[in-house]
Amino acid sequence: MSERWIVTGGCGFVGSNLVASLLEDRVDVVVVDTLVRKGSAENLAWLQQRAAKSGAGKLVHVPADVRSRTDVEHLFSRFGEGSSVVAHLSGQVAMTTSIDRPRHDFEVNVLGAFNVLEGIRTLAPHAAALFSSTNKVYGDLASLRHEESATRWILPDHPRGLGESTPLEFHSPYGCSKGAADQYFLDYHRIFGLKSVVFRHSSMYGGRQFASFDQGWVGWFCEQALRQKREREARRVPLAFTISGDGKQVRDLLYADDLVRCYRLAAAAIDRIAGRAYNIGGGMENSLSLLELFTVLEHKLGVELAYERLPPRASDQKVFVADGTRAAADFGFSPQVGVSAGLDRMLEWLRR
Ligand SMILES: NC(=O)c1ccc[n+]([C@@H]2O[C@H](COP(=O)([O-])OP(=O)(O)OC[C@H]3O[C@@H](n4cnc5c(N)ncnc54)[C@H](O)[C@@H]3O)[C@@H](O)[C@H]2O)c1
Repeated sequence: MSERWIVTGGCGFVGSNLVASLLEDRVDVVVVDTLVRKGSAENLAWLQQRAAKSGAGKLVHVPADVRSRTDVEHLFSRFGEGSSVVAHLSGQVAMTTSIDRPRHDFEVNVLGAFNVLEGIRTLAPHAAALFSSTNKVYGDLASLRHEESATRWILPDHPRGLGESTPLEFHSPYGCSKGAADQYFLDYHRIFGLKSVVFRHSSMYGGRQFASFDQGWVGWFCEQALRQKREREARRVPLAFTISGDGKQVRDLLYADDLVRCYRLAAAAIDRIAGRAYNIGGGMENSLSLLELFTVLEHKLGVELAYERLPPRASDQKVFVADGTRAAADFGFSPQVGVSAGLDRMLEWLRR
């Protein structure tokens, strides 16, 4: 019998990249997605085309809502047995929305994760359980020593970035809801022996990312830069976009192909790494501040970007760069796509 994965949120940015790679390798995939996110219906159509190619794995789309116990129980009673991996990627993904609609954020991220974990515990106990958490579980990191350069904030005491021993501190409803789910995944290993692994992600980018003002900042600013280039070429004054804060906030960027490798390597190593959390990002060499990203985009596109500043966002970290030492040592993951090549591919996808 062929291998099968269940991927919740499988029509989102991370999910569709992961599912495409599985289908190509003849793995069957059950994609669980309500298609609420802008672009998810397009991603599903794209996946269906890929599944139709000869030799691809089978694709089943289940429009189950992870908030619904009934939907998730039904899903696992149909597909739990015989699935070797459950990747739980569906979520309420924007910090800003979590502040506007905290109950919704709680229901999708905490109750949704709990329903999925219960499905795994009762109906797929041998499956690897992979969860996409976030660096926001470490709070705003304001107590760390920061230095300011002309283009970025720096953590002088953490030259390789931040490891998993950084104290947890949940800030904002999004930080609390993702953090609660992160801890549930780890605890279901401790208490029930589930083969769970948690990835605390920095920023990710690449094709199939339908970014918005409040989520997917790399994709969003790439879109804005391309729009301003078109406006300048049409001899119109470009509409300025906005940024929150001073633009010196730094993140490490992980390209889509690398994040797919991360999930697949972790699934293959699950018996060694179950019960652990990993900081996953592009690392220091693939880190950029907003201002530095704008310089790179100006250079690549030959356009001067026009933007305006807004006050900083609540709980925003001035710097987060993942120290990937543990992931490299435990399951051999380290990023391979450099940020310049990744941005070229992102721009190419957006142009198409
Ligand atoms: N993209 C990033 O940079 C980043 C960074 C840190 C963490 N993460 C986490 O990774 C995961 C995937 O992120 P993404 O960028 O692919 O997000 P995304 O919004 O592109 O994908 C999430 C998918 O979940 C689906 N969904 C939402 N609510 C649902 C529900 N109640 N039931 C079923 N499906 C539902 C959406 O339709 C969407 O297709 C998220 O959990 C996010 O918190 C992402």
